[in-house]
Amino acid sequence: MSENVNESRGKTLFQRLFTELLPIEQRALMGTLVFIAIILAVGWVALNEPRRMDIYTAQYEGRSIQRGASIFVTNCSSCHGARGEGIAGVAPALNTPEMFDGTHLAELGWTGTLEDYLLLTVAAGRPARSADWPNPMPTWSQDYGGPMRPDEVEDVVNFILNWGLAYEEGYAEAPAEEAAAPAAPTPEEEEAPAFEPVGTDVTVALPEGDPARGEALFLGTESAPDGAPLGCQACHSLDGSVLVGPSLQGVASRLPEGYESIDLYLHEAIVAPSAYIVPGFEGINMPDNFGERLDAQSLADIIAFLKTQE
Ligand code: HEC
Ligand code: HEC
Repeated sequence: MSENVNESRGKTLFQRLFTELLPIEQRALMGTLVFIAIILAVGWVALNEPRRMDIYTAQYEGRSIQRGASIFVTNCSSCHGARGEGIAGVAPALNTPEMFDGTHLAELGWTGTLEDYLLLTVAAGRPARSADWPNPMPTWSQDYGGPMRPDEVEDVVNFILNWGLAYEEGYAEAPAEEAAAPAAPTPEEEEAPAFEPVGTDVTVALPEGDPARGEALFLGTESAPDGAPLGCQACHSLDGSVLVGPSLQGVASRLPEGYESIDLYLHEAIVAPSAYIVPGFEGINMPDNFGERLDAQSLADIIAFLKTQE
């Protein structure tokens, strides 16, 4: 009996502690803790804001450099070399210490920044041929009639500027390979080929093509299945003028000897360009990776568009 009383008394005390006394203290305590936590959090954020912005900027630039790397591989390396080391008789080296230490700009008499020099050169190109460079540097930015959006021009310039960091950090002798190696692809990008490349076999059957989409792909107003512009228009005009490659004006009505059909010829000219070289364009490279960059439908669409150029 007395045990029961004690127990219920004990319970009452216990219950009172937790249902009446502690909640009040807890509430006060919680209030104080939350208040301190807010003060700490605000202080922490304020202290770290500049650092946080740096990290954000670095991440943003990192992504831009990565995109620039893939743009460089697909659009620039056929002339400037895979690591910007240049190709004799085709295009100068870009990945040199002189490009980044001011020597090159001083020689040219350029007083602006290197970034501006690169942006302008890449955007506008150097349409004039010279004795040194029989193939001119194409115009890349849509602002000047080229195939790239301005942000894509910025990405590829950020990629080039990134080579300079290696020299700046005192690795002046760093092998170009290391300096130029694009950042490792993120897992997301490794999975990227969400399309099936058509490949270089010209005997594969193609679906029916849509000339309107083919035109958009050709002009770069629509990106290729791999997400980057194809850049056809940087090298091929449709009005008879010669940029880097032959003008594709009238291409549908000039089937070279030995080809059965214009479809087969155009198919080969795009995915296996070295199989037949247009007379007069010997030694000038058309990129040979379009078989990897196009799926069967996109290739069929471009061929359908080129067949309208009679
Ligand atoms: C068809 C060949 C070709 C392609 C493709 C090409 N370039 Fe060029 N590029 C040249 C030539 C040739 C020159 C030199 C032109 C001159 O000095 O008259 C040049 C010059 C440059 C220069 C100036 C170099 C210097 O020494 O001042 C930069 C920067 C450049 N290219 C970047 C690029 C980028 C970026 C791409 C890809 C988006 C690209 N190029 C694609 C041929 C090419
Ligand atoms: C970096 C410059 C460059 C780019 C980019 C380029 N080409 Fe070419 N293309 C050439 C050159 C140079 C030739 C001539 C040499 C040869 O026959 O391989 C050529 C030849 C051709 C021919 C044969 C033309 C004829 O008169 O018989 C076709 C068709 C063609 N290209 C289509 C394309 C298409 C479509 C694209 C985009 C998917 C493209 N090219 C991208 C440089 C380029």
